Amino acid sequence: MCGMVVASSFEEAVSLIKDRLDIVDTVSQYVVLKKSGANYWGICPFHDDKRPSMSVSPSKGIYKCFSCGAGGDALNFLVKIQNRSYKEVIFELAEKFGIELPKKMNPSAETKTLREGMLKACRKAALFYNSQLKTDKDASKAKAYLKKRDVGEEIIQEFTLGFAPNSYDSLYNELKKDFKDEVLEKAGLILKSNRGGWIDRFRNRIIIPIQNENGDYTAFGARAIEEGQNPKYLNSSDSMIYNKSKTLFGLYTAKDTIKEEDSVIIMEGYFDVISAQAHGVKNAVASCGTALTAEHIKLLSRYTKSRKIYLSFDTDSAGVNATKRGGEIIKETFSALGEIKQFDESHISAGADNKYACEIRVISPPQGKDPDEFIRTMGAEMFNNYIQEAPLLIDFLLNSVLKERIEVKTPQEKSELVSKVIEILKDVNNKIIQTEYVKMISSTLDVNENAILRELKKYENSYVQTFSPKIQKTDVTKSSQFEEKAQKNLLSVFISNGGKENYQKLNQLLPEDIIRDKTLIIVKNTIDKFINTVNNVRELTQNLYTEFIEDDNLTKIITDLVEMSEAYNELNSDELEQAIRENIFRLNRCYTEKEAELLRQQYREVNNDDMEALKLQMQLRDKIKLRTGDK
Ligand code: UTP
Ligand code: MN
Repeated sequence: MCGMVVASSFEEAVSLIKDRLDIVDTVSQYVVLKKSGANYWGICPFHDDKRPSMSVSPSKGIYKCFSCGAGGDALNFLVKIQNRSYKEVIFELAEKFGIELPKKMNPSAETKTLREGMLKACRKAALFYNSQLKTDKDASKAKAYLKKRDVGEEIIQEFTLGFAPNSYDSLYNELKKDFKDEVLEKAGLILKSNRGGWIDRFRNRIIIPIQNENGDYTAFGARAIEEGQNPKYLNSSDSMIYNKSKTLFGLYTAKDTIKEEDSVIIMEGYFDVISAQAHGVKNAVASCGTALTAEHIKLLSRYTKSRKIYLSFDTDSAGVNATKRGGEIIKETFSALGEIKQFDESHISAGADNKYACEIRVISPPQGKDPDEFIRTMGAEMFNNYIQEAPLLIDFLLNSVLKERIEVKTPQEKSELVSKVIEILKDVNNKIIQTEYVKMISSTLDVNENAILRELKKYENSYVQTFSPKIQKTDVTKSSQFEEKAQKNLLSVFISNGGKENYQKLNQLLPEDIIRDKTLIIVKNTIDKFINTVNNVRELTQNLYTEFIEDDNLTKIITDLVEMSEAYNELNSDELEQAIRENIFRLNRCYTEKEAELLRQQYREVNNDDMEALKLQMQLRDKIKLRTGDK
């Protein structure tokens, strides 16, 4: 040991750690690697694969899977494979490599022990409640209640269910020997009483311990067992170790199955998940006494790569509303990540490995008020049938609106019903699918097809269409993938070996808005920010990875750029300039073609208005001339 190295900033600490992290060593701890040429190859741990699709490049310090697209540097690999936050990984590595973190970064010994204490206290509490269910003299009511719900001994142990005695201090008395009051209070286990002492927070309730994705006990749900005992569920508040918007009940026990089956079922209640998992439906989770959040969805998307999400909520109208809101949250979350561009198709039609797809289905059996009741009365096999046959969210939503048609009497009511339908159909991205739905609905509701289509036209601002209105989806996907690739290619020149030395000169060649992809603009700005302070390209990419450490999408993009830059590494300054010009030319062709396609589309649509058509025709001709003359 040669003593601690002291880092003066977080960035420095990360860079010191990265200097000490070897990509081949790091990946080898989890994957068997074989050398082939300059690179190593292995089976990607981030998706189900049998062939070695993942390459590890020691010279570039990155890994990249050519099958699922995962990629990044050594730190990113550790964060992903250990499923931990990058901060946790950094703390651990700093300790391992003897690097002292800057004061404000380093969780003080005090907060560290406080956190650890809280986790320990929650675990102890869970075990205490669990033992009380067997031994406490008042537990008979709780036991009878669980029995009535078909929750047997096995399930009790699997979920560490427990009983909080009907007393003010039984937990406190048990834990105060080992924990400070502050720890117990911060963990949400005890409260200050009016008289100034401490009392147990949960009393005379069934206790459902909540675990985070690593299996730590972090919070509790506590169900009433008496008539008139309110609220029905008393939940832990957020704390240093628990954030309910980021926690899903059952995830710890469900996560392996979610990965294996590549799908997840979101339910509403604790007991829905308990029943489901106990009966073999292992990929079920629920939020903990709160509505679904974007954080929940992001958490899940780490486990189901193809984002196959089932919603299985209560069958009453509140449940239907929760389904609608849940669907919205899922769509919003994925749209904001900028990856998912369609929600209206199943993976079967979109292609199983289509990274732009997301499949939302609804499990809504006719019997039973919620999944718990259904599984207990009808059995897991029957529930599995409903999973197999679960309709897409869009079909579920349309059906629930169309059901209302029996009550429609006046034209006004009918028009209102049609607007509800349109509200749903406007999010359908694929025009062919949308048109099919319109046909179907026009006959079901006996409304003119064109009237619905006209209404739909007013909404061209759906999730998907923002980046390219009025072009059919197939065109959009193809041309935008091409466009994205061309923009990446252009950027990658700047992070090639010579790209750094000739940065100023090459940069001047770029026309004003040549990079149009919002994410790639961020990347370009960040390269600009670092370019003058780094010594070489390796340092530049390291900085980029650190900057985007929490963003998986951006990390992947950086990896793509590093990969692409390979082609430019040996070029001299003139050749690089030529490469930039060629990339700009190609990209401009993409943009012009897209605009032309847009005009063609508009032209096709306005041919009943002569003046308007003429105007478009001229614009289109100009575009095409521009393209062919652009040599
Ligand atoms: P439900 O009212 O549907 O309860 O609330 P449930 O799951 O069917 O409960 P049981 O079967 O009667 O025991 C669904 C979820 O909403 C949260 C809980 O997470 C519950 O599981 N909830 C409900 C609360 O947090 N507090 C409440 O008072 C009620
Ligand atoms: Mn319920």
